[in-house]
Amino acid sequence: MCGIIGYVGKMEAPPILIEGLRRLEYRGYDSAGLAVVHEGKLQVRKKQGKIDEGLARLLEQQPVVGSIGIGHTRWATHGPPSDTNSHPHLDQSGTIAVVHNGVIENYDRLKEKLLKAGHTFRSDTDTEILAHLIGHYYQQERGPVRPQSERGGAPNSISARREPMTGSRRNGIRRSAAAFTEALRGRDVESHPLVRAVCAALREVIGTYGVAIISKEYPNLLIGARHGSPLILGIGAGDHFLTSDANAIVAHTAKVVYLNDFDVAIVTSDRFEVFNLQAHSVPVQISQLSFGSQETERGEFAHYMLKEIFEQPKTVENALRGRVDRDAATAKFGGLNMTTAELQSIKRIIIAASGTSWHAALVGEYLIENFARLPVEVEFAHEFCYRSPPLEKNTVLLVISQSGETADTLAALREAKRRGHRTLAIVNVIASTIAREAGGGIYMHAGPEIGVASTKAFMSMLAILALLALYLGRLRKLPLERGAELLDALAAIPAQIGTLLAQSEALKQLAIKYAAAQNFFFLGRGYTFPIALEGALKLKEISYIHAEGYSAAEMKHGPIALIDSNTPSVFLVPQDSLYSKTMANLAMIRARKGPLIAVASEGDREIAALVDDAIYLPRTLDPLYPLLAIVPLQLLAYHMAVSRGCDVDKPRNLAKSVTVE
Ligand code: G6P
Repeated sequence: MCGIIGYVGKMEAPPILIEGLRRLEYRGYDSAGLAVVHEGKLQVRKKQGKIDEGLARLLEQQPVVGSIGIGHTRWATHGPPSDTNSHPHLDQSGTIAVVHNGVIENYDRLKEKLLKAGHTFRSDTDTEILAHLIGHYYQQERGPVRPQSERGGAPNSISARREPMTGSRRNGIRRSAAAFTEALRGRDVESHPLVRAVCAALREVIGTYGVAIISKEYPNLLIGARHGSPLILGIGAGDHFLTSDANAIVAHTAKVVYLNDFDVAIVTSDRFEVFNLQAHSVPVQISQLSFGSQETERGEFAHYMLKEIFEQPKTVENALRGRVDRDAATAKFGGLNMTTAELQSIKRIIIAASGTSWHAALVGEYLIENFARLPVEVEFAHEFCYRSPPLEKNTVLLVISQSGETADTLAALREAKRRGHRTLAIVNVIASTIAREAGGGIYMHAGPEIGVASTKAFMSMLAILALLALYLGRLRKLPLERGAELLDALAAIPAQIGTLLAQSEALKQLAIKYAAAQNFFFLGRGYTFPIALEGALKLKEISYIHAEGYSAAEMKHGPIALIDSNTPSVFLVPQDSLYSKTMANLAMIRARKGPLIAVASEGDREIAALVDDAIYLPRTLDPLYPLLAIVPLQLLAYHMAVSRGCDVDKPRNLAKSVTVE
């Protein structure tokens, strides 16, 4: 949801910003823009539409140069997509440029105040208000620039209130404020008018932000700040970066600092320091990225989504690696941060998540209840937060999130913590906010997922939930033989997914056959019910075909009225314990002449005669059918979208990481 990038260094900023924005485009593609400072001029280019169709073309006609700049790719919240509403936004004087990811909730009140002070606005965005607010304080703060030696600390200067620097010194990476002096034109960091203005403005803001700020008056100063939206500082050789997602800078550096809420990063080409909004220096920790730039390349695949679908055998292997204890027929996790006794005392688990992760949570419910006999409830993260359900002692909240940044899911996590409950998280993005705030957790190790429609992360969630169910089960009464049986079946999954991927061409033909349908049903029971929901979501997201995921059994209680000869149903009907029941549901659709596509078990002799088309799954245990059944549904949705000419990796209106509630 909106991607921001900033660069300051010795290289030309525009190509770095554009390449970074392309890698951030999954976060939003309503518009893109950049601002670059060169020879005292602020050059701004911004355009509605995707980067290659909009901003990149504009830059060919109106190129910009400079070695400091900021860029933005937008997912519209305040104000419709348009050139004017695109970021960067400038302050009243046109001196300061701001890019922003998040939502300023009190923008109305701030706007009113600024209007009274004589400001005029061009766009409908909350971000422009922030730019003007920074400009407003900047005008108040700036005085004649004097060398530091001539200056006494102003009584109300930030430095006067500043506490001793502790953390960055402790970490041995102290960046002396004085070292910025030259770059900041004779000012030290704490009394720098722009830094002070940014801090003053952000102290007034209610809402979420990841921001990057430059000014034409300071050609070597990049400022970043975050609250609720991710922001990463990249440390290069003679240059620095700010970005919403490390993918955007991994080609330049693997050394990063994950900024925390209320951090303000003051960055020049060769220095950086991090402060809080009260201008106290805060500790920073330099981390090493665990993936390389090749992992974010599309390679031979036409789309990231297809690449990620095909990565799934590896995804499962990565999720299982180092977590299987075959002798004890259980799983092992390094980061749950709970003792065996604490884990055994859990009385109830609530799983909160959003979107695809919520569907994984539903599978998790079935798995944990089955293997551990523990009551589990699955909540939409946003519902959990605001209806304040009763939570008895020993209830654990488990959140699941690919990005680790989804605002709804983060809010659920914080709500459970606020109420004094243990929290766990299953997360893909290392050091994301949810990963850092959860009491304990499990990383997916699925690698970067770029396609907006989640595929491999979902697979990873399913594999980890199976392991977690096994682990909790073995801590209770699950017999060793059942644990061993599950581990054997899990070990076979990567190769079984491989056989399903080999059917991609057949699924393409199927997709072409049904591509004209306007409505679809996806139906399943038991473990494949959540897969029906996920299959329908995949189709909706990327092909814009109306699809409903439903319980095959519940169909007869209403939705069956929608069945006619133009409404195909994808029936998930593996030969599991519910097979005969699901077959009876299938017969009901058949009797009403609804076209039928079955996802059945290999060797099912009956099914072919009853349906129009069939796809066969390798055999596995009932609880693991979700890991197989989802693969043909992902491929079906993918090929359907391609055959309808849809932009698979950038579906309309969507953003991969939704960092607003
Ligand atoms: C957005 C995406 C979905 C995703 C959901 C949850 O809505 O479009 O694909 O499933 O967020 O994302 P998370 O990162 O929390 O798993």
